[in-house]
Amino acid sequence: MQEKSNCVVIGVSGGIAAYKALDIISALRKKQIEVNVIMTESATRFVSPLSFQSLSQNMVTVDMFEEPKAWEIQHISLAKKADILLVAPATANIIGKVANGIADDMLSTTIMATKAKVVFAPAMNTNMYENPIVQENIAKLKKYGYEFIEPASGRLACGDEGRGKLADTKYIADKIESMLYEPKDLEGKRVLVTAGPTIAKLDPVRYITNRSTGKMGYAVAEEARDRGAEVILISGPTSLKDPFGIQLIRVDTNEEMLKAVLSNYEDVDIVIKTAAVADYKPKIYSKEKIKKHDEDLMLEFLRDNDILKILGEKKKHQVLVGFAAESHSLLENAEKKLNNKNLDYIVANNIIHTGFASEDNKVSIICKNGDIIDLEPMLKKQVAKNLFDIINKRR
Ligand code: CTP
Repeated sequence: MQEKSNCVVIGVSGGIAAYKALDIISALRKKQIEVNVIMTESATRFVSPLSFQSLSQNMVTVDMFEEPKAWEIQHISLAKKADILLVAPATANIIGKVANGIADDMLSTTIMATKAKVVFAPAMNTNMYENPIVQENIAKLKKYGYEFIEPASGRLACGDEGRGKLADTKYIADKIESMLYEPKDLEGKRVLVTAGPTIAKLDPVRYITNRSTGKMGYAVAEEARDRGAEVILISGPTSLKDPFGIQLIRVDTNEEMLKAVLSNYEDVDIVIKTAAVADYKPKIYSKEKIKKHDEDLMLEFLRDNDILKILGEKKKHQVLVGFAAESHSLLENAEKKLNNKNLDYIVANNIIHTGFASEDNKVSIICKNGDIIDLEPMLKKQVAKNLFDIINKRR
């Protein structure tokens, strides 16, 4: 696995949510980001350092003076190494210490010594969180440029209801990943992405669809967000979580997707259509459930909108990017689509080689001028990264 050069140091302080930091580490590792962990003494009472060591694949630091790296001043070396220092969960105690200049253990000294961005993800009992002293400490830290990922509301471990739950771990990992990106080369741009399948309804309980999971489109939308774009994601039905910081419009049918896309088309700079749109819909929608009979059932289908073709016809200033899922004659078919639909780029992938639900993809990117860039098999997020690198270089 290719390692990104970025390094996140995660400080785990001693709260019941300490175990959730394991999910954050796992999510960051899947994004190929290096993780180093510092635990406070009390965090080790909730979760064993060994769990953090196994998941991060790095030594976990607890005590300032422990071996094996006694020759290095560890709080300084991790402080220097970090691109971002995330404190998750951040207890009232660690927030209070940093806000008041106290550095008496590995985590607090590292926070004090680092020049990296420090992000706190608080998790604590509601009354503690709402305590004016804690709030004052948070306000003070914000004033000095420390960032916060606000806690969510819900049922807390202690049984109370209210604010103080650690923010969603995927949300935290995504946010940290987005903070790692420099430079923000899509800042000021508006990007529209479509993702997932569409469905064509037969009756109140049945519909026809395809196997698209939406993963490629969500990865494209997240990459655009990470580069500073304002992103609108128009998504067919998927089981994926709503990505943070992205305007999500959910649709079901081809017609709904067309409507949503057209109403945003004028105002966007780049459109990336990864959606696997249904080309046909049943001629008749039965308002009542179709009952079974002894004979075979014959269905008739009507051609539905080719959304991308319509966009190509209406294109003015927009950069238009299509995806082509092919099982044979990959480049030839993709090139035809590029020309027929008046696209600037088409991303061609052979669906025989990489399945729909897969985490990675093997694609070729074809440009309007005929240039073809063949990419190695890679994670869908990396495909998205390469795609924007190419678009930005050639625009
Ligand atoms: N597309 C679209 N509307 C459709 C069909 C496809 O907007 N009704 C878009 C897809 O989002 C994708 C591109 O067109 O960006 C190519 O989609 P694909 O399904 O590969 O090709 P089709 O044009 O449908 O042709 P075919 O199914 O014959 O391969």
